[in-house]
Amino acid sequence: MLSEPFYDPTRSYEDNFEHGPFGLFADTQRIPDSSEIHHHFLGQPVAAPFGIPAGPLLNGRYVKAALDMGFDLPVYKTVRTRRQACHPWPNVLAVQVDGDLQTGRTLVASQKYSEPLSITNSFGVPSFDPEFWQPDMADAVRHAGPGQVVIGSFQGTKSESGSVAAYIADFVTGARLLKQTGVKIVEVNLSCPNEGTANLLCFDIPRAREIVEAIKGELGAIPLVTKIAYFGDDARLTQFLREVGSVVDGISAINTVSAAVVDERGEQALPGEGRLSSGVCGSAIQWAGLEMVQRMARLRESLGLTFEIVGVGGVGDAAAFDRFRRAGADVVMSATAAMWNPLLAQQIKEWMQGAGA
Ligand SMILES: Cc1cc2nc3c(=O)[nH]c(=O)nc-3n(C[C@H](O)[C@H](O)[C@H](O)COP(=O)(O)O)c2cc1C
Repeated sequence: MLSEPFYDPTRSYEDNFEHGPFGLFADTQRIPDSSEIHHHFLGQPVAAPFGIPAGPLLNGRYVKAALDMGFDLPVYKTVRTRRQACHPWPNVLAVQVDGDLQTGRTLVASQKYSEPLSITNSFGVPSFDPEFWQPDMADAVRHAGPGQVVIGSFQGTKSESGSVAAYIADFVTGARLLKQTGVKIVEVNLSCPNEGTANLLCFDIPRAREIVEAIKGELGAIPLVTKIAYFGDDARLTQFLREVGSVVDGISAINTVSAAVVDERGEQALPGEGRLSSGVCGSAIQWAGLEMVQRMARLRESLGLTFEIVGVGGVGDAAAFDRFRRAGADVVMSATAAMWNPLLAQQIKEWMQGAGA
């Protein structure tokens, strides 16, 4: 049974930002947590190795509600060094997928949300100015209780001149602004378009390496996680891990899987240029998240690397959490399922206690 989501897809992003979170995430009080703290993520003690990845937690109020509800690793939604508007509404729709989503499919979208739940989301990575998000993130960071860690996510923005040096410098500025908030772990989103090309940044391995090295130089001792997309090609994933996995402290996979999305009449479902294809997440991409975790864990060992693995993609219950952990994920996160099930962290903790996990 789906609960009232804490992000309401029938409202605009701005409305959710101002008035959310909703459902059980509204007016939360910290839930007493009897978990003993015997897990760690990147040197930080965590009560349960489970959280919400970048996206659904729009601002500090959402992050604080997630902490109160027992999500011990919440990620504050990806920010930028300057303001960027959100794509027009709708930004979230349900999609009908039979079984596993394969690439190159066309999906029918609607506002009928049912299980097994898969959705598409299309925001364009909006951001407020650092003058807003820096104090807001700092406040959320301070709200973390024992065994909880807030992660700050960001990405670079193309400069008006189109210069690569300015693009890389923007990542370094972003890292500096995040560091000033007191956040203990930083995540850089490399599963965003490589500005100026049609490809994702994580698929341009030399550029990705240059960027993470520049960010590490700025962050110093603060651990850096990078968020990546599904890699179909094993040779390319191996090269990415050699070049980038040897620099970063953690890798989070996966982001959404792209598909063409139409309405019940066969017309483009999300209005505006460049929005025929959008990212799909939830149940239908679990196979891809799990497969990436398995491959990264195998390659981490054979390449002698030490980065920690954040498993993401279609995790909706304790059984899926367990599958990701057994596949090699150090920690696991859920976006879509957590949005419609605010009790997910508590359910996973109950399961962990029962299973002695
Ligand atoms: C509403 C929403 C917004 C998202 N925004 C971001 C984002 O800003 N940055 C990012 O790296 N990933 C973003 N994502 C992707 C998620 O972090 C995650 O990788 C993806 O949804 C797969 O996980 P899931 O199947 O549990 O939803 C977003 C996802 C959702 C559902």
